Amino acid sequence: MCCNFGIEYLNLIQNTIVSMKVHELFRFCVEFLRSRGVETPKTDTELIFSHFLKISRVEIYTGRDSEIPRREYKKIMKAIFRRSQQEPTEYIIGYKYFWGNKFEIRKGVLIPRFDTESLIYQAKKLCNRPKYILDIGTGAGIIGITLKTIFKDSYVVLVDISDDILNLAERNAKNILGELRDVELVKADVYEGIWEKIGWGKFDLIISNPPYISRDDFLNLPSSVKAEPHEALYGGVSGNNFFLKIADKIDKFLSRKGKVILEVGDELQAEKVKQIFRWKGFRNFITFRDMNGKVRGVVIFNF
Ligand SMILES: C[S@@+](CC[C@H](N)C(=O)[O-])C[C@H]1O[C@@H](n2cnc3c(N)ncnc32)[C@H](O)[C@@H]1O
Repeated sequence: MCCNFGIEYLNLIQNTIVSMKVHELFRFCVEFLRSRGVETPKTDTELIFSHFLKISRVEIYTGRDSEIPRREYKKIMKAIFRRSQQEPTEYIIGYKYFWGNKFEIRKGVLIPRFDTESLIYQAKKLCNRPKYILDIGTGAGIIGITLKTIFKDSYVVLVDISDDILNLAERNAKNILGELRDVELVKADVYEGIWEKIGWGKFDLIISNPPYISRDDFLNLPSSVKAEPHEALYGGVSGNNFFLKIADKIDKFLSRKGKVILEVGDELQAEKVKQIFRWKGFRNFITFRDMNGKVRGVVIFNF
C-alpha cells in the first residue's frame, strides 16, 4: 500500500513537473526517503544527485538554483524510488570509495565499509614491506588491491569462493592498479585451492574481513544490510566459523615472521579470535579499533 502510493506519486510529479531546481528536488527527495524510514536520507540523496548530475557533493549546494535536465530528473527519481524500497545506495550508483579509490560494486557483493580501512592502517603501520600477501574473502578486492597500492613490490593473492565476485575484483584491480603484475585472483574455499593455482608458498601477511555475523545477530540486521549477500555476512551459529578455518591451517600458510590481521564484529569476538589462535600456539596479539572507537580487529603474530 505504502509502496504503491510511492510509485503513483513519483509518476505523477514526473509527468506534471516541467522543471525543477536542484534544491527543490533535493529537499523533496530527502523528505521522501525520510518518510519511508531510510536511515540516512540526506547522505543517500547527496550520493544519488552527485552521481546522476555528475557533480561533487559540494556542488549540489553551490549550484542549488540550477535547473535539473529532464533526463537526469527521471534517473534521479527512479534511483530515489529504489532507495525508498531499502535497496542500498551503492548498488544503485554502482560504486563505493575505499582508501581513496573508486571500487565498482554490484548486487551480490558486500558493500565495503569505512571501518575496514582500519585493517589497512594496521598493515601499513605494523608490516615491514611484506613480500607475499593473502587476502581471504576479497569481495570487491578492496583489501588486497589497496595493499598492493601501498606495498608496491608485494605479490598479492586475492581469494574468494565465488567466480562472479572474483571477476568483479579483477576489473577493480585492472582499473585501480592498471595491470595485474604480481596480483593473482584465486577461487578457493579459504585455503583450499590456493597452492594448486599459484604453487607452494607461505605468506608474510594473511588478512581477512571474513563473514563473521552470528545466527542471532543476523536475524536482527536492518533490512538494507540483509539486501547484501548472505554468504558474505553469515559466519555460522557463533559467527566464528571462518576464524576457525583460517586458524586451522595457519602454520602451513603463514611464514615464520608473518602476521595475521582479521576484522571482527566486537570486543567479545576479538577475545574469541585470540583464544582460537592461542590454541594454535600464537602468543602476541594487538586488538585495534576503527575510527568510531569500536573494536574492529586483531593482529596476530608470534615473534
Ligand atoms: C565480509 S565479505 C568481505 C569482502 C571484502 N573483503 C570487504 O572487506 O569488503 C566476505 C567475503 O568472503 C567470501 N567468502 C565466503 N565464504 C568463503 C570461503 N569459504 N572461502 C573464501 N571466501 C569466502 C564472500 O564471497 C565475501 O566476498
